[in-house]
Amino acid sequence: MFKPIKPFLILLLSYSISAKVTAQSSLPLYLDETKSIEQRIEDALSHMTLEEKVAMCHAQSKFSSAGVPRLGIPENWMTDGPHGIRAEVFWDKWDQAGWTNDSCIAFPALTCLAASWNTDMSALYGKVIGEEARYRNKNVLLGPGVNIYRTPLNGRNFEYMGEDPYLASKMVVPYIQGVQSNGVAACVKHFALNNQEINRHTVNVNVDDRALYEIYLPAFKAAVQEGKAWAIMGAYNKYKGQWACQNQYLLNDILRKEWSFDGVVVSDWGGVNDTKQAIYHGVDMEFGSWTDGLTMGTSNAYDNYFLAKPFLRLLQSGEVKEEEVDRKVRNILRLVFRTTMNTKRSWGSFGTEEHALAGRKIAQEGIVLLKNKNNTLPIDLSKTKKIAVIGENAMKVMTVGGGSSSLKARYEISPLDGLRKRTGAQAEIVYARGYAGEVSKGQDGLGTGQNISDNRSPEELVKEACEVAKDADFVVFIGGLNKNDGQDSEGNDRASLDLPYGQDLLISELAKVNRNLAVVMISGNAVAMPWVNEVPSIVQGWYLGTEAGNALASVLTGDVNPSGKLPFTFPVKLQDNGAHKLGVYPGNSEETYNESIFVGYRRADKEKISPLFSFGHGLSYTTFQYGKVTADKREMTADGKITFTISVKNTGKREGQEIVQLYISDLKSSLPRPVKELKGFDKISLKAGEEKTVTFTVDKTALSFFNADKHEWVAEPGDFEALIGASSTDIRSKTAFRLK
Ligand code: BGC
Repeated sequence: MFKPIKPFLILLLSYSISAKVTAQSSLPLYLDETKSIEQRIEDALSHMTLEEKVAMCHAQSKFSSAGVPRLGIPENWMTDGPHGIRAEVFWDKWDQAGWTNDSCIAFPALTCLAASWNTDMSALYGKVIGEEARYRNKNVLLGPGVNIYRTPLNGRNFEYMGEDPYLASKMVVPYIQGVQSNGVAACVKHFALNNQEINRHTVNVNVDDRALYEIYLPAFKAAVQEGKAWAIMGAYNKYKGQWACQNQYLLNDILRKEWSFDGVVVSDWGGVNDTKQAIYHGVDMEFGSWTDGLTMGTSNAYDNYFLAKPFLRLLQSGEVKEEEVDRKVRNILRLVFRTTMNTKRSWGSFGTEEHALAGRKIAQEGIVLLKNKNNTLPIDLSKTKKIAVIGENAMKVMTVGGGSSSLKARYEISPLDGLRKRTGAQAEIVYARGYAGEVSKGQDGLGTGQNISDNRSPEELVKEACEVAKDADFVVFIGGLNKNDGQDSEGNDRASLDLPYGQDLLISELAKVNRNLAVVMISGNAVAMPWVNEVPSIVQGWYLGTEAGNALASVLTGDVNPSGKLPFTFPVKLQDNGAHKLGVYPGNSEETYNESIFVGYRRADKEKISPLFSFGHGLSYTTFQYGKVTADKREMTADGKITFTISVKNTGKREGQEIVQLYISDLKSSLPRPVKELKGFDKISLKAGEEKTVTFTVDKTALSFFNADKHEWVAEPGDFEALIGASSTDIRSKTAFRLK
C-alpha cells in the first residue's frame, strides 16, 4: 500500500547560486549562515527595492507569496493545516489542481489530540505533520488552532483543543516544536476570539479583560513564549471594533509588546479589510482578499490587495514611512531565514506508513470511553459470533469536507472496515445503516468517491436496523455528526445540540432490542444524549483520519485500553452552557461574552450544574485507586513552590493509562473566581496491580488571576486547596495550603 515517493529535487538552495550572487567574489552577508538571523535580515533589507518589499507582504496566489528572485530569496508557501497537508490547489482557485502525488496522511482532529492529554502525542503529531509539510515544500503550516471551546455549536471546535486554557497551552507547545523541528513554521490560529463560525466575518466580540487573559489568550501566549511559534494567523472577527487581522490591541499591544512575538502575522484568508489599518495594526502578510469590488472569482487580483499597490502608492508618495514596510519585511525575512533559507533543515517525508501509524497511535490515545456499564466493552470475541454494525458514520468518508481542513487522504479506513479487518473470521459482521443524513459532499473539486444516497423512509431504516441488531451477539452503533455544512464544518455553526437525522430515536430502539450495545459518537463536539441511561456503553470517537477504523476497532475489541479524557464539557442541554444562558449568541454585529471567565466546567462548578459528561472524564477497561494527596509544605511563599504527591494504583486486571488531574481552588478572593481550575495533569501507565507516585509542583502562577485594573496577574495570599481527581467532577483527594 505504501509506495515511498522519491523526494522532488526542487532545490530551494537556488538562492546560493543565483546569477547576481555568484557574480560576486564572496557571499553577501544575508546568505552567510554563520551570521545571526538579525544581521542577515538587515543586510537583505538593504538590498531590496520598495516594490520587492511590498511584494512580500501580500499573496501572489491562493497560498503563496513572492520571494525576491533577484536576490535568491525564495517564495513562501502556506498549507492547511491542521490535520494534514491540503491537496495542491490551482494558482488562483480553491479547486484542487489534480496532482497525483499529493495524497497525505490524515491525522486525528485536534480535539482528539487534546483528548489524549499526552504531550508526547502532541510532539509526535507536530513532528510527523511537519515532515509531511516539508516534503511538500511548504514552509508554513496553517495550524494548530487553539480557540477556546465556548459553545458546543461552533462548527469548528473539532479543529481546536477544548475548553481549558491550561490543557490547550500544554498541548499546543510540543505540536509547534515538532512542526518547526522540520524547518516549517507553525502558524497558530485564529488570533483571537474566533469562537464561533456563524457571523464570523461580521461579529465584534465584547469580552472583559479577565476572560480575555484568563481564558482566551493563554494558549496563544504559550504558543508564542514557550512554543516559540514562528507565525500567527489573525481571526476574521472584530475585537474593540477593529478586525482581528488588523488590530492594535491584539496584534500590536498584546502579541508584539506584551509577549515579544518576533514571528510573522499572517492574515486569515480574506481577513484584511483596510489598507491603513493593515499597515499600522500588526499584520505582515495578506492572504485571500477579494478587494474593492473585486470578487472571489476575479483572477490575479493580487496587485489590488490592500497591502499591494495601495500600500506601495502610499509609500511612494511619502504618506507612509518606509519603516512601516520594513517592519513587516523584517518579520517575513525572519520566517524565510528560519525555514526555506535554513540549509540544514531535513527533507521531510510524505504519506508514509510511519506517519499513518503515528496517526493511529494518537487516535488510540484520544478515544474516550464515556460509559461502560457492566463492562459491556470491550467486545469479547471469544463469545461473539455476530456483530451488528449500525449507523451512517460506520462507512461515511470523514476526511473530505469541513472547510479548510478538508483533506485528500492517501486512504481512510472506515470504522466498518476496521471492525471487519479486526474480527476477520472470528465474527460475522452485518451492517445496516439505520438513518440517512444528507449525502456526502465533495470539497474543492475533490469528491468522496461515495454515493450513499438512500431513499428509504426513516421508519424503514430503523426497522431494518432493529431486525439486524436483534439477532446479533453485539451491536455497535456508529453515528454522531459529520463534515457537512451545519455540522462539524467551517463557516457555520450547528443549529442545535441534538443529534441530527433521527439518531436519538434509532438509538433508543436499538437499546430495546439488544442490551449488548456500544454507541460510538463520531464528532468534534458535544451532543445531547437523551438516551444516555438506556444504553450500556458510549465511546467518543472524534474524527480520526486515515487510520480511523483501525484505531476504533482496536479500542472496541480491547486490543487497546482506552485512555483519553474529554477536553470539554458535555452539557445536558444548551442552557447549561454560559454562552447560551447568558451570552449574546450568535450575535450579528455584536457578540457579548457575558459569562466572562465561566466557560465549560468553570460554569458547571459555579452553578452546580451536573454535566452529561464532565471535562476530564474518561474511563478505562481497568480501574485506578487514588491514595491521599500530601503537600511538601503547608505554606508557600510568593516566590516559592509547593509540591503535591499522590499515589495511584491500577486495581484492575490489565495494563492501562490514567490521566491524573490537579485542580487549584482559591478559597477566598477579592474577585469572583472559578471554584477550581486545572493547573496540572500527568498521564501515567500502570500494569495490573502496579502503583506509582505522581507529583505536581506549582508556583504562584497556578494561584493567580488576572487583575484587569492593574493589568497584571495577581496571587492573593490566603487559603487554597489542591484537588486531585480523575475528572473535574471526580475529585479523589484534596489538601489545604496557604500562600503567604
Ligand atoms: C480559514 C483558515 C485557513 C484559511 C486558508 C480560512 O477560511 O479560516 O483557518 O487556514 O482559510 O485555507
